[in-house]
Amino acid sequence: MLSGIQPTADSFHFGNYFGAIRQWPLMQDEHDTFYMLADMHAITVDFDPNELRERTYRSAAQLIAAGVDPERSALFVQSHVPQHAQLAWVLNCITGMGEAGRMTQFKDKSSKGGTDRASVGLFTYPMLMAADVLIYQADRVPVGEDQRQHLELTRDLAGRFNHRFGKTFIVPSPYIVKETAKILDLQDPTSKMSKSASAPNGIIELLEDPKKAAKKIRSAVTDSGDEIRFDQENKPGISNLLTIYSALTGASVAAIEKEYVGQQYGQFKVALSELVADFVGPFGERTNALLDDRAELDRILTSGAEKAKALASQTLAQVYDRLGFVL
Ligand code: AMP
Ligand code: TRP
Repeated sequence: MLSGIQPTADSFHFGNYFGAIRQWPLMQDEHDTFYMLADMHAITVDFDPNELRERTYRSAAQLIAAGVDPERSALFVQSHVPQHAQLAWVLNCITGMGEAGRMTQFKDKSSKGGTDRASVGLFTYPMLMAADVLIYQADRVPVGEDQRQHLELTRDLAGRFNHRFGKTFIVPSPYIVKETAKILDLQDPTSKMSKSASAPNGIIELLEDPKKAAKKIRSAVTDSGDEIRFDQENKPGISNLLTIYSALTGASVAAIEKEYVGQQYGQFKVALSELVADFVGPFGERTNALLDDRAELDRILTSGAEKAKALASQTLAQVYDRLGFVL
């Protein structure tokens, strides 16, 4: 099992957490888990080096605070394992221009600054992501819905390589938890919660001040009517809050609806705001404690990279051999 996340923000938000990261610790007992900070992906768009360095540490600390256990999972930084870039080159060479050009994330991100200004790295991003997955022979990849297309490409490339050069890669499946695959913006519940597109009040960060987070929940946009009922189509605002409530408590949406029968949106939002504050408060404290010991974080990331390299180098050697590279 492999997954990755880009260290492109000071804090992860509820979308990242419920859509992806929360699944990560749950897999540690039954799978060989590899969790990666995708710093090489982070440089495909504008970035600041000092920020990137700091955010890599902050992201590592948040993943550990979220339950990723460095003893049971390999937690590492992408650029520490050179085999990712090496395999990505190979995959670039079996990907069609048209195929890569159809990736909607590239189209979205490149259209923002004009396609001519987009980097070639942004264009080849999906092949690097495919390499991240295939180099570990991962068969399951927990991500949010927006990464589905990249995983389809990963599957296509694995199949193509196997077909042309002999069975080498496991063809991986996405692991997308339907209920939380898309957490919506609190102020505009028709679009996803996103660090680049959401207004500050639309997004809850994991490292946010608990009082501020609670306030954002209380002022979340809700729909007309007053019934606390899940209805994605007609009541996207309250449905999103129900999803978050359910994800935080583990209670089913049906059970929560039942609990709040006859109550007002306001009462429900107050209850949820308290749950959210109780979650982000301790989460922030755990993260800050981890960030106070950089030497320990370095030790964890170095040891994660060692575990990762051991497996990645085996796969790469096999790939090079299949390709006819003289070994
Ligand atoms: P990003 O940093 O936005 O590329 O996202 C990192 C991870 O979080 C990916 O697996 C995304 O699919 C997931 N993710 C991001 N935003 C959301 C959201 N609003 N709802 C669910 N998952 C999300
Ligand atoms: N592209 C992913 C994102 O933006 C991050 C990522 C990089 C990733 N490599 C990966 C996710 C490999 C899963 C598997 O969220």
